[in-house]
Amino acid sequence: MTDYRTLRVALLGAGAVGSQVADLLLKHGDELADRAGAKLELAGIAVRNLDGKRDADLPRELFTTDAETLIVGSDIVIELMGGIEPARTQVLHAIASGADVVTANKALLATHGSEVFEAADQVGAEVYYEAAAAGAIPIIRPLRDSLAGDRVVRIMGIVNGTTNYILDRMDTEGADFADVLAQAQELGYAEADPTADVEGYDAAQKAAILASLAFHTTVPLDAVHREGITSVDAAMIESARHAGYVIKLLAVCERLTADDGSESISVRVYPALVERTHPLASVHGANNAVFVQAEAAGDLMFYGAGAGGVQTASAVLGDVVSAARRHIAGGVGVGESTRANLPAVPIGHVITRYQITLEVDDQPGVLATVAGILSEGRVSIATVEQTVIEASVGAAASTGSATEAEGSTIGAGSARLVIGTHKAREQDLSETVERLAASGVVERVVSVLRVEGN
Ligand code: NDP
Ligand code: HSE
Repeated sequence: MTDYRTLRVALLGAGAVGSQVADLLLKHGDELADRAGAKLELAGIAVRNLDGKRDADLPRELFTTDAETLIVGSDIVIELMGGIEPARTQVLHAIASGADVVTANKALLATHGSEVFEAADQVGAEVYYEAAAAGAIPIIRPLRDSLAGDRVVRIMGIVNGTTNYILDRMDTEGADFADVLAQAQELGYAEADPTADVEGYDAAQKAAILASLAFHTTVPLDAVHREGITSVDAAMIESARHAGYVIKLLAVCERLTADDGSESISVRVYPALVERTHPLASVHGANNAVFVQAEAAGDLMFYGAGAGGVQTASAVLGDVVSAARRHIAGGVGVGESTRANLPAVPIGHVITRYQITLEVDDQPGVLATVAGILSEGRVSIATVEQTVIEASVGAAASTGSATEAEGSTIGAGSARLVIGTHKAREQDLSETVERLAASGVVERVVSVLRVEGN
């Protein structure tokens, strides 16, 4: 075997991802050495609880609760603890100690990324974070390196495995939200606090990271519009299916150009309707998919495992090999750039299509009233479907397109209206929905979902 220089690697965290990283480092040491041009010595693994159960059979003597001491003298520090503290302090400590850092911690980077990257710049260290967005899928390197010479216009994708797993199982099997979330936790997909997944925080952190790289702009987390999937229920999934859609939690990052040529960006995460024929509709389980549209390259699609211990370990180890090669060869990588610093617009500026579901009085003229309110609000109707949901005696439930339900009695019962709109401005849409809710003919606004993917 080649006589390689030895690099000392410190691992912080041995949970779903960390235990697999340690296992692969130990199992494939010789192969990794050939790729890295250095022997990677796993110097220790810092955890909270020395007696904790591990997903891999790892030498007990490697474990310590003293992360701070482990970091000193390390060439590469892999941070897989998650959360903000003590991860932030330990990452800054690693950088100050002269180590390169590999992390999968999107929460840390989306909130303290500038601090971490500046600290690294000051001492000439590198921070690698391929696993921080979309698990095993290579998306950070393509944005940071491969597309450095292009201009990204739009990124749209599924970037959270847990929520895709939940929505997919609800859609394909009629599974219960809470049951599937528990399974996602067991499978190691979910964050330590799964609220981060189901309320869209994790996807928003990833969207902020992707948008920052794509648009060469610092994107603070509070500039990302975020909605989670906790309001999505079986009825919404069924209604989406009936209309030819599937519900997916999407991250959308867009470069917007005004008539005067000035540019801004929109970064948002929300559950949206995607046509069943769209490639995103076939992203099942905990998989992720990211579409990138760039001015010169055109459309690119990245697909694969978005979560999972061993899958994510692949992305982490790729970064470890890159860090090792740089340590041996020297020089700097392609760094982050915030040159453009584009302003982020609020959600009200976004233009997209919508599906509005209303429960209305089933009376003559109601459809005309609803259409009038939409028209006044500059929201143009593309499709309407009406279903009688509570008919009077003798009136059968029926479905019709753009007609009052046949067979219902004047003044009787309730109907469900599902309205598809043409593209509208979000602010116009939300004001219009408020007017509909207050109109007296609408009993209940059941849901308002954006339609994406066209
Ligand atoms: P886990 O919660 O499974 O593991 C966290 C590990 O960090 C545990 O070993 C824990 O120790 C250790 N740890 C936590 N706090 C401390 C502390 N204060 N001091 C020392 N050790 C500590 O997390 P995951 O492996 O799932 O995730 C790790 C990171 O990877 C997170 O940033 C996550 O967002 C990211 N990620 C996760 C993916 C996944 O599919 N799971 C995919 C992509 C990214 P102990 O075991 O003793 O409690
Ligand atoms: N909890 C995250 C997810 C892990 O489900 O996507 C991968 O980042």
